Amino acid sequence: MDRVVHASAPGKVNIALRVGASRPDGFHPLDTVFEALDVRDDVVVQLAPDLAMSISGIGEDLPVDDSNLVIRAARLLRDRFGHCTSLDIVPADLGAHLAVTKRIPVAGGMAGGSADAAATLVALNELWQLSLKPEQLHECAAELGSDVPFSLMGGIAHGIGRGEQLTQLPSSETHGWVMLLNQQGLSTPAVFREFDKLGLGRATPDTTDDVRAVISGPTRGSEHRGLLGRAVGNDLEEPARSLRPDVAHIIDTIRAHIAAGVLGAHAVLLSGSGPTIAVLAEPSRLDSLAARLEQLFPGLTAVVATGPARGTYLVR
Ligand code: C5P
Repeated sequence: MDRVVHASAPGKVNIALRVGASRPDGFHPLDTVFEALDVRDDVVVQLAPDLAMSISGIGEDLPVDDSNLVIRAARLLRDRFGHCTSLDIVPADLGAHLAVTKRIPVAGGMAGGSADAAATLVALNELWQLSLKPEQLHECAAELGSDVPFSLMGGIAHGIGRGEQLTQLPSSETHGWVMLLNQQGLSTPAVFREFDKLGLGRATPDTTDDVRAVISGPTRGSEHRGLLGRAVGNDLEEPARSLRPDVAHIIDTIRAHIAAGVLGAHAVLLSGSGPTIAVLAEPSRLDSLAARLEQLFPGLTAVVATGPARGTYLVR
């Protein structure tokens, strides 16, 4: 059988990210608002004797062994739900080749690895004919990583816990983003360790109310995006600045340009745990803003994105 199944998953930006003090399990309680972006990774799967993967696009030098979240997602799905297959294959023998096309920056705070895991779950559920419900896919996603459930869901969502307990927020407005990519990545655990070292945890991190009020509120168009720009914020910016003065300098420069009204953007913030920097702007101005930012910071690459984008779906 050579059936091919194709799934597409979005990257994300955290419009707001509030972080509490470290829990006994080492994770940090989050209160966050995610927005899915139309920068997407694809996973194309076919039945094969074993589990194996390949990567094209960006990230071709990433490992393709058991350390890759794609293989871990496939194993978890097979071990947990392989018995649900309606194929005439013993569950332990379910295999696949997984071809990943990456466009979401690697180690950039845009959840590219999580998107690949989400696409893997959706594609293999179809290929292996497991007929799993969304809750069952969510259960696997939450085990694989804090951002994987949101990659499945997409749109705009409020996340608590580790970020995996999600509530979709109604959203009719389009947001434009220029994502400024840095060649040198930044490790998420290292940023959280620095957060602890600096003693930054909020007693109650549940303070994304202002952003949620704008998202679900009555304003439209540029007025809406202007209000949102004043409400955004990311508690991981301080530890990321401490680890990466170069990133701090870029954010400060953009912030000063925005305050002076010379950039035509609404806000700048760190994306997730960085080092990608997200600039919120009018959707019609993204290309000129991207060109201007690349001119100001010659070492950086600007990627244009809009949100909210659809969650993970099968490409028919
Ligand atoms: O869940 P995920 O694999 O994305 O997390 C990567 C790392 O980020 C964790 O191992 C942990 O060090 C840190 N983290 C955290 N608190 C969270 C989410 C992630 O400390 N809520």
